[in-house]
Amino acid sequence: MMRRDWDDRARKEAFHYIATWRQDWDPDSFFRSGEEDYQRLVEVFFRRWQWQPDRKAMLELGCGAGRMTRSFARRFACVYACDISPEMLRRAKTLLPAADNIVWLQGDGKSLAGVGANSVDFVFSYIVLQHMPTEALAFQYVREMLRVLKPEGAFLFQFNSVREPTMNRTGRLAWGVVDALWTIRMNRASRAVASWMGWDPELAGKSWRGASVEVDRMLEVLWSAEGAVQEMSGAGTPMTWCWGMKRAGNGR
Ligand SMILES: C[S@@+](CC[C@H](N)C(=O)[O-])C[C@H]1O[C@@H](n2cnc3c(N)ncnc32)[C@H](O)[C@@H]1O
Repeated sequence: MMRRDWDDRARKEAFHYIATWRQDWDPDSFFRSGEEDYQRLVEVFFRRWQWQPDRKAMLELGCGAGRMTRSFARRFACVYACDISPEMLRRAKTLLPAADNIVWLQGDGKSLAGVGANSVDFVFSYIVLQHMPTEALAFQYVREMLRVLKPEGAFLFQFNSVREPTMNRTGRLAWGVVDALWTIRMNRASRAVASWMGWDPELAGKSWRGASVEVDRMLEVLWSAEGAVQEMSGAGTPMTWCWGMKRAGNGR
C-alpha cells in the first residue's frame, strides 16, 4: 500500500507531495529548495562536527524526485538514492539525467536489501520516517541505515516525535474507518469521513499520516544498532533531528 500511495502521489503532483509547503514548484525552484535544505540542514552538522563529504559514499533513504539528491551528488563521490516508489524514481532520473554518480534503488518498503553492510560513510533521511505507518517500521529502517553504515560513519535523519494525544473510542473507530476506506482505495470516501469528523482530509491514509516515534525508544534502538548519538534536537516536535556515528566495533 505504501508503494501504491506514493506512486499515486508522484503521478498526481510529485513536487507538491514531496515538499508540501509550496504549490507552484517548477524544476528550478524544486532543486533550489533542495540545495537550501542541504546548506541549512546538513552542512551545519558537517561543519560543527568537522566532517567532510569528499570522496565518500552515502545513502539517502526516501530520495523522492531527487530534490536533495542533486546537492549530495555534487559533494559526495557516490550517492545511493533509495525510494519505495518507482514513479518517484522515474521522475528523479528524468530530472537528473547527467548525474552519473547516483545509483537509484527501488526499496522493498521494509529494508535496504541489496545495499551491503558497512558500505557507506554517511546515511541521511528527511521527511520520510515521519510517514512510516508504524513506529516499528521506522525503527526497522533506522537499524537498516546503521547496518549499511561503515564503523565511524555518520548518520543524520529527521523523524516525528510529537506525543500523540490519547484518543477516545469514537475517535479510534473513526480513524479505523478512514484507514479501512483508504486501504480499499476508496480515497474520496476516506477523505470525506475525515472531513466529517472535523479532521484535515489530507491526513487520510496511513502512509501519509505516519506514526510518531518516542525519543527514548529511538535512542535505545540506535544504541543497540551500534549507533552513538552526538546531537539530538527538536525532541517532542515533528522535526526531531538526530546526528551521530556508528561505533567502531566490539560494541564500544
Ligand atoms: C515527502 S517525500 C520526501 C522526499 C525527499 N526526502 C525530499 O526531501 O525531497 C517522502 C519520500 O519517501 C518515500 N518513501 C515513503 N516510504 C518509503 C519507504 N518505506 N522506503 C523508501 N522510501 C519511502 C516516498 O516515496 C517519497 O518519495
